[in-house]
Amino acid sequence: MSVIRSAVTGVGSYLPEQVVTNADLAKIVDTSDEWIVERTGIRQRHKARDDQPTSDLAVEASKRALTDAGRGPQDIDLIVVATTTPDMTFPSVASIVQRKLGVPTCIAFDVQAVCSGFVYALGVADGFVARGAARCALVIGAEEMTRLMDWTDRSTCVLFGDGAGAVVVEPREGQGTKADRGLLGFALRCDGSKTDLLYVDGGPATTGSVGHLRMAGNQVFRHAVVNIAEAITACCEASGIEIADVDWFVPHQANQRIIKGVGDRLGLDEDKVVSTVALHANTSAASIPLALDAAIRDGRIKRGDLVLMEAMGGGLTWGACALRL
Ligand code: UT7
Repeated sequence: MSVIRSAVTGVGSYLPEQVVTNADLAKIVDTSDEWIVERTGIRQRHKARDDQPTSDLAVEASKRALTDAGRGPQDIDLIVVATTTPDMTFPSVASIVQRKLGVPTCIAFDVQAVCSGFVYALGVADGFVARGAARCALVIGAEEMTRLMDWTDRSTCVLFGDGAGAVVVEPREGQGTKADRGLLGFALRCDGSKTDLLYVDGGPATTGSVGHLRMAGNQVFRHAVVNIAEAITACCEASGIEIADVDWFVPHQANQRIIKGVGDRLGLDEDKVVSTVALHANTSAASIPLALDAAIRDGRIKRGDLVLMEAMGGGLTWGACALRL
């Protein structure tokens, strides 16, 4: 049976220049490189300049993805940005990206699912592309999580970083089998009863301020492995694939112990797991496309490979999706 799949035809990413090491943070809060590496695997993170808003990171990542796809701004008819750190409350980062890239009038909006944002945004874009409502989409994860940090709270400020990743998504005809190129299936979840475990203590309709990220880290940790593993299993079922079919596992990069826990639970070969958490820290919705791009650039992930992505974050939201590149 012939079906239209949403195929990723280009990938790009961008990290701001400034690198903040664990040693740098140990100068401002009571922490150590040893603690951070042992508990999280993080060694450094990137930090945007004061005059460099989230849209600028998104634009750089998008330019690279468009070049990779052999496409230009004129081709784009849909922009979906997954972000939790917009330049302003409104307009959307997607609107600003459209202007900065010089994309003609198109559909453009943001998706807010915190760290799960990129997987959610791919699901949303698939709804347009696979139904013929968009022919060339930019799906972007862009975040400046350092803007949300309370720099006196050692339990959170060491965990996050800034960056952006983007993919170009275009329709491709498939046969409705797991051999098709493109997105094969999803599982997206939210449990709003756990908003208090991970949130920002500000907003336009409450404090009128931006606020700071607050997290009950060890409780979030406890949910992570179980929730993610369940979503992966459901995603495999929806995609008609087995874990053994997966060539590369590209997880959200929050904590190396979570990545390992999920891998162990699912019996994934460690050599198939892409990890960038040591260098990028947790860049929320940007972490998956950043990791995907890194593994494509260094030659690990190749056209035709089956990639499984997963994430979990504030909401609590979580999810997984399977993509044949
Ligand atoms: O992407 C969104 C999803 N987020 C996540 O997935 C994050 C999930 N959670 C985690 O990754 C981990 O829970 C953390 C890395 C946040 C914390 O690791 P943990 O092993 O769960 O540590 P803990 O929170 O239980 O804290 C252990 C100890 C505490 O000291 P006491 O009470 O045992 O004396 C903390 O005060 O470590 C202390 N601590 C620190 N010590 C040095 C917390 N942060 C730090 C720090 N440096 N930066």
